[in-house]
Amino acid sequence: MADGAFGLSEELARETAPVWEKVKGLVTPLEWPEQAKLISEINALKKERDAVILAHNYMTPEIFHGVGDYVGDSLGLAKEAAKSKAKVIVQAGVHFMAETSKILSPEKTVLIPDLRAGCSLASSITGADVRLIKQRYPGLPVVTYVNTTADVKAETDICCTSANAVQVVEWAAKEWGVDKVILIPDEFLARNVAAQTNVGIIAWKGRCEVHERFTAEDIAEMRAAYPGAEILAHPECPEEVLAASDFAGSTAAMIDYVVDRKPKQVVMITECSMASNVKGDVAGVDFIGPCNLCPHMKRITLENIRDCLKYMQFEVTVEPDMAERGRLAVQRMIDLPPPAIPARYDLIKAKHHVDVELI
Ligand code: 13P
Ligand code: SF4
Repeated sequence: MADGAFGLSEELARETAPVWEKVKGLVTPLEWPEQAKLISEINALKKERDAVILAHNYMTPEIFHGVGDYVGDSLGLAKEAAKSKAKVIVQAGVHFMAETSKILSPEKTVLIPDLRAGCSLASSITGADVRLIKQRYPGLPVVTYVNTTADVKAETDICCTSANAVQVVEWAAKEWGVDKVILIPDEFLARNVAAQTNVGIIAWKGRCEVHERFTAEDIAEMRAAYPGAEILAHPECPEEVLAASDFAGSTAAMIDYVVDRKPKQVVMITECSMASNVKGDVAGVDFIGPCNLCPHMKRITLENIRDCLKYMQFEVTVEPDMAERGRLAVQRMIDLPPPAIPARYDLIKAKHHVDVELI
């Protein structure tokens, strides 16, 4: 019997063997036969529908390794949505990501397997809020984290992600000829950017419900228990968490760090699926906790991805005028050159607190 067969037909076992290689140890032999069938069904439906699956790094390993045509961070997924030639995009991620894809590819059908897959950051602010902020700070550029709804993007000058926030803020300040920018809605991302630039930051009190729960005590406990471990944290974490970590970066930057540097022991201060997914791609690295689950990302499953392609549900649309205004902001970000690679491993340059103006 081939490794990973578990009662599957020889053909299905052969077809799914490369995925099994990556996920064994992460899914149980009891779950695998059903997952293998769904993976095969989804991959056939993709061809039939001329569809691609854009999967965020927080997807579970069987989605990440089994059906994602492109896997990556928010920036990578947005870039891929803009250049994909497929007729249909299935967003294996949350709703704001599907809206971003639709904004960038209005001619494509964009589907999300579960419409309830939201985000605490995206729901923290509305387009009307941004209009009021602009009235209060006339002449300042509005930089908006990509984790926002389309109506917020429509009020935005340029979007950013955690991979390029410092670069975008500095670009906007220079372009507008000002020494302050509005960076919304993630308070912690704003504080972390403020610690790395001389540009003044006006921030909003939005939080990621997954990353805000990590504390400096968590890091201190990890250091005491695993003195040799390298600690990587996402910039949506509180600033004292980043200050105590060895590296901060977007989900893709954290993966690159582990793949390139192969630390003996690593702690990923972020969503739980991250460590599981990288485990499938690197051998000899010991991943240790803690991690937190994102309930929104976890709404996406192999079953609802299959149904999404089978029944062409649930379509995500953006009103054309709103999409056009939002596109300018997202496209401006995509058109900036990628951040220099060495800097990505040295994101915590200023381990000091910088005041931001909270709206
Ligand atoms: P990145 O993948 O851009 O780092 O974003 C993390 C996140 O929380 C997305 O919801
Ligand atoms: Fe939103 Fe945080 Fe979940 Fe990402 S991890 S989707 S930022 S709640």
